[in-house]
Amino acid sequence: MILIKTPSQIEGIRASSKLAATTLNYTASFIKVGISTEELNKIAHNYIISHGAIPAPLNYGGYPKSICTSINNVVCHGIPSKKEILKEGDIVNIDITTILNGYFGDTSASYPVGKISQEAQLLIERTKKSMELAIKSVKAGKYLNECVGRVIENYISPFGYSVVRDLGGHGVGIKFHEDPFVFHHNTPENHIMLKAGMIFTIEPMINASENWHVIQDKYDGWTIRTQDGSLSTQFEHTILVTNSGAEILTKI
Ligand code: MF3
Ligand code: CO
Ligand code: CO
Repeated sequence: MILIKTPSQIEGIRASSKLAATTLNYTASFIKVGISTEELNKIAHNYIISHGAIPAPLNYGGYPKSICTSINNVVCHGIPSKKEILKEGDIVNIDITTILNGYFGDTSASYPVGKISQEAQLLIERTKKSMELAIKSVKAGKYLNECVGRVIENYISPFGYSVVRDLGGHGVGIKFHEDPFVFHHNTPENHIMLKAGMIFTIEPMINASENWHVIQDKYDGWTIRTQDGSLSTQFEHTILVTNSGAEILTKI
């Protein structure tokens, strides 16, 4: 069931989303060669707690940390570790989800570490652009796939990239993951009419090869990597559907 949020719920989700966005921006300002992903986790954790909120990933289905940090061929759900040190040329996604007064906001972005290859830079720019094009096309009365999966796949595939299918966006706000499951590739499964008051994430994971398949780490049960070892990047916003378009809630 897809919830239509009430004005007071929207206020709460807007505030939590804003905190998620400022946490992401603050945490990302510490990205540099030599910092560990565990240090980034601590910075984000402390920032969220000091603003009266809770990091949603911590203990979510047994997840052990407060944020996700996904480097290079890691698609998503990378677990911060003090043994994982950022190095020159890496690309890293930081994913932040906050719970503020019971309301959830979810956002992520991918960043360069020092000087990166042109291949990596283009992947970051195009992934971000694909998310932005999808957000711009959202409007009440249109269909979910028409705005998201079709827009993203049509934009991204001419570059020889692929759209990850096994993970997607999701309704968000009252819970971490609500209906609908948002596909980022073109599929009739998302033939859902958008209505004002729906809130969901758009968070395309784009692989720098035509292989969209991913593998889950057997040992930690979380880390998702590209099957072929290619780079993958992701951007994520939480958005509110309105009659005139979409409002990005995870905006600074
Ligand atoms: N923030 C992720 C998302 O965008 C979910 C992370 S779940 C976790 O949906 F448990 F790995 F944190
Ligand atoms: Co999400
Ligand atoms: Co997220």
